[in-house]
Amino acid sequence: MTTLSPTPAPQARKKTTTLALRQKKEQGIPIAMLTAYDYPTALALDRADMDVILVGDSLGMVVLGYENTLPVTMEEMLHHCRAVARGAKSALLVGDMPFMSYQASVEEAVRNAGRFLQQGGMDAVKLEGGRERIEAVRAIVGAGIPVMGHLGLTPQSVHQLGGFHPQGKTASAARRLLEDALLLEEAGCFSIVLESVPARLAEYVSARLAIPTIGIGAGAGCDGQVLVTHDLLGLFDRFTPKFVKIYANLHAAMQEAFAAYLADVRQRAFPGPEHCVEMPAGEWEQFLQEEGKNGSE
Ligand code: KIV
Repeated sequence: MTTLSPTPAPQARKKTTTLALRQKKEQGIPIAMLTAYDYPTALALDRADMDVILVGDSLGMVVLGYENTLPVTMEEMLHHCRAVARGAKSALLVGDMPFMSYQASVEEAVRNAGRFLQQGGMDAVKLEGGRERIEAVRAIVGAGIPVMGHLGLTPQSVHQLGGFHPQGKTASAARRLLEDALLLEEAGCFSIVLESVPARLAEYVSARLAIPTIGIGAGAGCDGQVLVTHDLLGLFDRFTPKFVKIYANLHAAMQEAFAAYLADVRQRAFPGPEHCVEMPAGEWEQFLQEEGKNGSE
């Protein structure tokens, strides 16, 4: 494996807690959250000092190649949660409850939320929805599991919403969203993701809540921000939402690297002497001598 630059020694950092996020809101310090689905990304995010790592069900689209997040299963989520938990020791780890892991009954919701902590190594769970999920939120929180809410564009309801469109754009939709946010806070959520809602509405909701809001396509007035890591790294080019800022073009970098490797292999330019294992000359001569002996037997 080629090392391009030395990896900085990991700094011992205190584990981020839900309480620490609340304090950040009170102090006006923005919270940074990104998604991860594997060990190396989790390691890099932790070393970059990320406050929160979300193992999002966006996994289904950006890693597993599904059309949307609906096919993602508990087993797929837990598999990736474990990889992330092995890499990140300081960030608060939030596991995204997949479609139909919390909708059918409150009991199932609590049991599946518990699996994220027991079997996935997560610190908290996230689930989508407002008033229709209050009972589940209350029960999960009651079991001692921190819950992050998710309002606005909730991708698991893509068919009900008629596509991936911004939400809360009418006065009545805005009022409903505010009411849902207040209900989730009252039910015990420690934070709420606001996805694809008007910036002024997100700012207003953030000011009305004591718990921090984390925005994605919801403007700068939220208490924190989240993006899908594959979007900001330019690793997923099927489509890029308007609210994404692209910080790198890793898909292009990967294609260049693969093409260079292919050319090297075809021209026998790789491996070079520096990539080969040496054998002491004496040992090799002895080997050839013995081979000759054996060959003549
Ligand atoms: O699944 C996910 O990555 C998410 C974020 C977009 C918040 O829910």
